[in-house]
Order: sequence, then structure tokens, then C-alpha cells
Amino acid sequence: MVESVGRLFVAVPLTGEVRSALAAHLMEATSNRPLPGKPVRPPNWHLTLRFLGSTDGVAYDRFLAALAGAERGGPFSVTFGGLGAFPRPVRATVLWLAIERGADRLDRLAALSEGAAQQAGFPPEDRPFHPHLTLSRVRPHQDLRPLIEHVSVFRVPLPVDRLVLFRSHLSRVGATYEELENFELGE
Ligand code: 2AM
Repeated sequence: MVESVGRLFVAVPLTGEVRSALAAHLMEATSNRPLPGKPVRPPNWHLTLRFLGSTDGVAYDRFLAALAGAERGGPFSVTFGGLGAFPRPVRATVLWLAIERGADRLDRLAALSEGAAQQAGFPPEDRPFHPHLTLSRVRPHQDLRPLIEHVSVFRVPLPVDRLVLFRSHLSRVGATYEELENFELGE
């Protein structure tokens, strides 16, 4: 049997500056109250491009080779929008921050990651890609319309110059994400 490398996903990381500015923005907007549900801790914030899940060594090597060989394009910036929720604000189970400008470039990186995943033998992702930054997971669902309407747009741009392959470690105290590989844009 081939050994598992772990539970993996590809994402765009946040810079330290954007992380701090977003944490301050949310604290101010919520008058220092925690977000509803189980908030994602700021060190764990990221923009997921492709969730691979449990990955064996053969698929891992194939995925790395495919992503390394892909035409990733150059660096760019995204800007954030307001808050939103899956499946919808009135019955929210995931609270997220929207991407405003640059979403088309994230779409391209997600498509490229999807192509690399399929080359490596992963089954195709059947859910459409919706770029977002998950802020909290809410179970049971809540009506988050008041919060979503109250929080203003976060105006700080995020420079995007690399993709990261993360390994997720789940434990009773929550997830931690380990950077396994970096893929620079513009190389
Ligand atoms: P999201 O929060 O950006 O929506 C690491 O676990 C990341 O992978 C999560 O932050 C989540 O992205 C995404 N993820 C986790 N489980 C998933 C699943 N079963 N299917 C698709 N994406 C998943």
C-alpha cells in the first residue's frame, strides 16, 4: 500500500500585513465581539484554490510535477469586498469575505490547480469555484444578514505572488496548516 502524505490543499496565502489589517478591521466592525460560530484563527486564513484531501505519495509527486510545469502567469493583486455566506446569509453555515478585483486571476489559478489535480489522478471537483476567504464555520446555521450588512468592505489589497501546497493537521484544539511546497508566480 502507498503511504499517505496527508490531507492537502492548494491555496493563496495572506501576507502578514493583510492578516493584521483584516483582524483589526473585523475587531473594529464587530466592536471587539468574536464572529459567530467557530471563527478561523487569523494564522489559518487563506484563499483555497483546490482541496485535494488525503493524498498518497504517487499522486503527490504527480501533482507537484504538473503544477511546477504549468503556466502560472505573473504576480497580481486582489482586493476584498464585503462579507457573504454559504449557502446564503439567511441560513449561513460558512461566513466568508468576498474577493472583488482579481477574482478572474484566482479563477485561472484554480483552473490550473484543477488541471494538475486531474493529471495526478484526482477525481474532478464537481463544485464550481467561488473565490473567498473563510472567516467562520457556523453550525447549526444562523441568520447572518445583520452582521453581513453591518461590516464595511475591507479595502486593503492582497499581493498574490505564490501558491502554497498546505498540509492540514486536524486535532481537538483545531486545524493547523503546514506549508509543504511553494510555487512562485512569474518564474
Ligand atoms: P475554504 O475554507 O476556503 O472553503 C483546508 O481544509 C481548506 O480546504 C478549507 O479551508 C476549505 O476551504 C477546504 N476544504 C476543506 N474540506 C473540503 C472539502 N471536503 N471539499 C472541498 N474543500 C474543502
